[in-house]
Amino acid sequence: MNKELIIAPLIRGFLIEKTGCPWVVQRCERGAGEKTIVVDTQAEDREKAIEVFSASLEACRNDGEIPLRWPVLWAGEEYCFCAAEDFEGIEKIKRNEQKDCRDAAGIRAAAGKRNRNDVVRGRTALVTGGAQGFGEEIVRGLCAAGALVFIADLNLKGAEALASGLNGEYGKTVAFPVEVNVSDEESVERMVNFVAGTAGGLDLCISNAGVLRASAILEQDMASFKFVTDVNYLAFAMVSKHCGRLMSVQHKSAPSWHTDIVQINSKSGLEGSNKNGSYAGSKFGGIGLVQSFALELVEYNIKVNAICPGNFCDGPLWSDPEKGLFVQYLNAGKVPGAKTVADVKAFYEAKVPMGRGCTGPDLIRALMYIVEQVYETGQALPVTGGQVMLH
Ligand SMILES: NC(=O)c1ccc[n+]([C@@H]2O[C@H](COP(=O)([O-])OP(=O)(O)OC[C@H]3O[C@@H](n4cnc5c(N)ncnc54)[C@H](O)[C@@H]3O)[C@@H](O)[C@H]2O)c1
Repeated sequence: MNKELIIAPLIRGFLIEKTGCPWVVQRCERGAGEKTIVVDTQAEDREKAIEVFSASLEACRNDGEIPLRWPVLWAGEEYCFCAAEDFEGIEKIKRNEQKDCRDAAGIRAAAGKRNRNDVVRGRTALVTGGAQGFGEEIVRGLCAAGALVFIADLNLKGAEALASGLNGEYGKTVAFPVEVNVSDEESVERMVNFVAGTAGGLDLCISNAGVLRASAILEQDMASFKFVTDVNYLAFAMVSKHCGRLMSVQHKSAPSWHTDIVQINSKSGLEGSNKNGSYAGSKFGGIGLVQSFALELVEYNIKVNAICPGNFCDGPLWSDPEKGLFVQYLNAGKVPGAKTVADVKAFYEAKVPMGRGCTGPDLIRALMYIVEQVYETGQALPVTGGQVMLH
């Protein structure tokens, strides 16, 4: 049992509950004079350990001041964590530039003045497949709205480039890259442990990484069918499992705080897709998981919802000049009479009542609704310009 993965989210949850706003909690060197939290158990059972550490934290619940550092003595081992509202605050504490404790009532009063523009401000968010396409749009939208974002991708170089660009643009740390293969459970667990070690907990998990291998079922080789199922369906379960475990620990000390797991599904999760069964099947299955996990995780105030976008015509999947679906469909003669990529694009746009493809801002509006709305879970929200309607 890694005790840090229990201590950090429980301290973070404790601070969230006390102040009504999100925090960053990270391991640090011990300072002088802080009150040590003594954990009196040898228990190696995770549930029991969570129980005992929460009870030890309860002992400080009436403190009006929030200490900079949180030393913990647990079964003879020493740990120390620091807590701040963002990564800059953490760095200041580590450099001994922040001397004063924080006033819980003042922070709570400021949190009470937050409005709709602050829905994700300061929240920690994880976006799988965040290096490009819809994932990149979500990462950019979340950073613009003040969230701290983990960009998790198989393409580490892409995630690093995006994170360093965003950190430069905002002049502070707003994004971290993290390598993951979402269809490998050990890799998913490492990713979530990295989030816990860096931010102390998680508020918003966006399971976005997805793949498509369009093929007629009479022709499709089952290895490609299984590949799509592993990345789109099974991976969502693994990401939900490990993010959900972290969120559920945090919930123990932040019982009033809502967190979110959001699957980026597809209009093909609501309606069959011709010669694309592996994709549509994996997405339909995703909605079954969303509904089931929503029922299961509601006890931890974790909402689980899906967003079902229409075609992102301007994104790389469709518009890449060499490998994009528009150029592929042009070369394959899939759209009768089409002579250029623009003709193929116009054909697909004409299928949408609102006459255009889905964009990043369309998706972000749906995401903000899901996070702000604390009275809904287990839903699949279409963002298709009217192309697919619920019945
Ligand atoms: N593009 C669309 O028109 C469209 C429409 C509806 C839904 N979607 C869904 O949106 C999501 C994103 O699609 P996109 O078009 O932006 O895709 P994309 O191909 O442009 O980007 C996908 C990203 O996921 C990463 N990725 C792929 N496999 C991974 C794995 N095993 N582990 C970690 N990262 C991995 C890739 O490196 C890439 O950065 C998918 O779930 C897709 O099904 C896309």
